[in-house]
Amino acid sequence: MSNNREHWGSRVGFIFAAAGSAVGLGNIWKFPHMAGQNGGAAFTLIYLICILLVGVPIVIAEFAIGRKTQLSPVGAFKKLAPDSWWKNVGYLGVASAFVILSFYSVVGGWTLRYTFVAISGGFEAMAGNPVLAKELFGDFVSSTWNPLFWHLIFIGLCIWIIVNGVKYGIERWSKIMMPAIIIILIMLVIRGLTLKNGMLGLEFLFKPKFSDLTANSVVLALGHSFFTLSLGMGTMITYGSYLKKDQNLLSSAFWVIFLDTAIAMLAGIAIFTTVFALGADPAGGAGLIFHVLPSIFSQLPGGIIWGTLFFFLLFLAALTSAISILEVVTAYFIDQKGWSRAKATVTFGGVAAAVGIF
Ligand code: TRP
Repeated sequence: MSNNREHWGSRVGFIFAAAGSAVGLGNIWKFPHMAGQNGGAAFTLIYLICILLVGVPIVIAEFAIGRKTQLSPVGAFKKLAPDSWWKNVGYLGVASAFVILSFYSVVGGWTLRYTFVAISGGFEAMAGNPVLAKELFGDFVSSTWNPLFWHLIFIGLCIWIIVNGVKYGIERWSKIMMPAIIIILIMLVIRGLTLKNGMLGLEFLFKPKFSDLTANSVVLALGHSFFTLSLGMGTMITYGSYLKKDQNLLSSAFWVIFLDTAIAMLAGIAIFTTVFALGADPAGGAGLIFHVLPSIFSQLPGGIIWGTLFFFLLFLAALTSAISILEVVTAYFIDQKGWSRAKATVTFGGVAAAVGIF
């Protein structure tokens, strides 16, 4: 079977695809507010320690398991440890990929819809008014057809990319989307840092506040280091399985981890410099991204452009992660059930779409 296994076309392609999986809503949506509220630099420090001590070895291990077995998780564990319970870890991965995909693609749909709202000037009315932005967001997510429509488009894009295969789908699009993510983010960082009082945001994010650091923060940092590096679900095993057996993986693993960490930090800088410069509330979670940011981008000169770039960035980050999650399920049915790529992707993308509707 490994003779006709699909492989990455280049090392850079693999790095961008795996970094695309790692860089997602976790980096841009979750990390900044988590760091801000759990002790700033104190939290960031713990997080970096978790990445180094736990993230680095597990990324390398997952890549190595995939590369060695040339199989996605269930098959990989069966091959490495026949007759053991390890294969269940693979099944668990496929099952949780499914669950994560159905919520991830709902939020992915929101980011796409917000990109269009931003570009059509829809944030103007919310300028300086997060309460109105919150109401409009509430109306949107509680309506029946609107979120459904965007959710289906988002999943449709994932399916379309994956159906085109590892090299001509995932790799080709990652090589376009990852550089776009980096360029857009750098533009937003420069915008934020050059705003008057933008530096206050840096303080919020990076000034060590050890008194805000609790045992819970440490658990959060550890959990987040798994989530942000796409670990524990077989995503990196699956991507590693498309490496040729003689391909180096150590330096690739470091690049992936470096990009993921750097992008989380930059996203925090872009967001909090802007939030603090405009004196907005650095509240957390969905509120920060979908209530506060729409109300502040529109206060900046050229606000339509900044708002559009930000939500497009979020959309790209979500898409490159969502494809890696769907690929885990697809690869299982290709490797273990002998299905065609098209059949596996369309079937399970479709089922995840249906689950996400609820
Ligand atoms: N790493 C992605 C993020 O930070 C999410 C993700 C993609 C993921 N694949 C995964 C999380 C596998 C856990 C397991 O948003």
